Amino acid sequence: MRPSGIAVRALYAGVTLLTIASIAGCAHNQTAATRDGLPLAAAPTQAVPQLKSVMAAHFKVGAAIEPDSIDSPADAALLAVQFSSLTAENKMKPGTIGVAAGEYNFAPADQIVAFAQAHGLAVRGHTLVWHYRSGEWTEAPDWFFAGDAKDPHYHDIVAARLQRYVTDVVTHFRGKVYAWDVVNEVISDDPHQVYREDSPWYRALGKDYIAIAFRAARAADPDVKLYINEYSTDDAAKRAKLLSVIRDLRAQGVPIDGVGHQMHISINWPPLQNMKQAFDDVAALGLENQVTELDVSLYSDPGACWSHPPACLPDLGQPVPNDVMRAQAQRYRAVFDLFEHEPSIKAVTFWGYSDKHTWLTSIPVPRTNLPLLFDANLKPKAAFWAIADSSWQP
Ligand code: G3I
Repeated sequence: MRPSGIAVRALYAGVTLLTIASIAGCAHNQTAATRDGLPLAAAPTQAVPQLKSVMAAHFKVGAAIEPDSIDSPADAALLAVQFSSLTAENKMKPGTIGVAAGEYNFAPADQIVAFAQAHGLAVRGHTLVWHYRSGEWTEAPDWFFAGDAKDPHYHDIVAARLQRYVTDVVTHFRGKVYAWDVVNEVISDDPHQVYREDSPWYRALGKDYIAIAFRAARAADPDVKLYINEYSTDDAAKRAKLLSVIRDLRAQGVPIDGVGHQMHISINWPPLQNMKQAFDDVAALGLENQVTELDVSLYSDPGACWSHPPACLPDLGQPVPNDVMRAQAQRYRAVFDLFEHEPSIKAVTFWGYSDKHTWLTSIPVPRTNLPLLFDANLKPKAAFWAIADSSWQP
């Protein structure tokens, strides 16, 4: 199941004014610029290259999956051949694993890890701490916060629950997960806040929860890479807050290895230069970069769409015009050209692999969207060929 439209409004109501303004500036451009009516070029006749081999000199290539992907032989074969890393789209989050204090549901994630190990694929963990709530579903289960916030021991009680959770989960996957998103989306979109203050974690522990989680993760696995994961890192104001939080953590001696850039981007947004600046600013701190949730939406919506669905661009319907798919392929090629020239990027993970399953068909509104490299029949799209074969023109 995916979140409902109402849940989406609640989830994304906090998108920054800055981001809204900047996205709004590029909305509605995509159709006029790209509808030239030409058919897409035929796919190359060569055997389908392995993306992980094409990119091996640069970074790992990952896909986010659910366990049902590896239950399907065709999907499992594609994952094993094309990717060098897997991420659980949902099954390593606290909403699944954190049943109660000291009680864990590792089975679905273990299934993914076992598949990865059997096929020599790395696993990146996502995510130990997140504030997300949508209707009845939450990635910050209530048991973490049970008790009386006025109790003088409340802070320590919640901190101990967090520390135990992170310790137990990282220990369970020690030696099997090479990198963790320790915290996800902790930076506020509100221009007046640095930290996301509407998070139950912030309400219970203030900013301390971030340091507690990183320290517990490092203590449980000295070798795992520890990431802070965030969206809109291309936005200068958001990035300034993120960098200030990282500097603050490091000044306290908190272990942190890198920044995860989600990169849910679109055909027209954000500009490559903004993305490059985000990688360069992180690398200048001596940290690693990873692209953690890449997909390229067919829609360059105004920012208002995320809090006001009528503002979203209308459904393109099926079949999506060739020129839109060509523009997507060209965009994928451009962002990979950028990634390949950034040595600090250690992995690029797609938020899915086939257009038959993507969060973007329900969020921000239900509509056609084809943001990934393989079509619903697992056939490589123009977007795939654009990054796998630099001599091919879509
Ligand atoms: O499986 C449960 C079921 O047990 C439950 O009773 C039911 C009730 O809603 O739904 C199912 O849970 C769903 C969950 O995914 C697991 O499948 C939730 O409703 C649904 O809201 C949740 O959505 C995921 C969302 O994160 C929240 O965890 C999306 O599939 C997933 O693509 C999305 O991924 C996030 C990244 O983690 C962070 N960055 C943004 C990205 C896209 O939103």
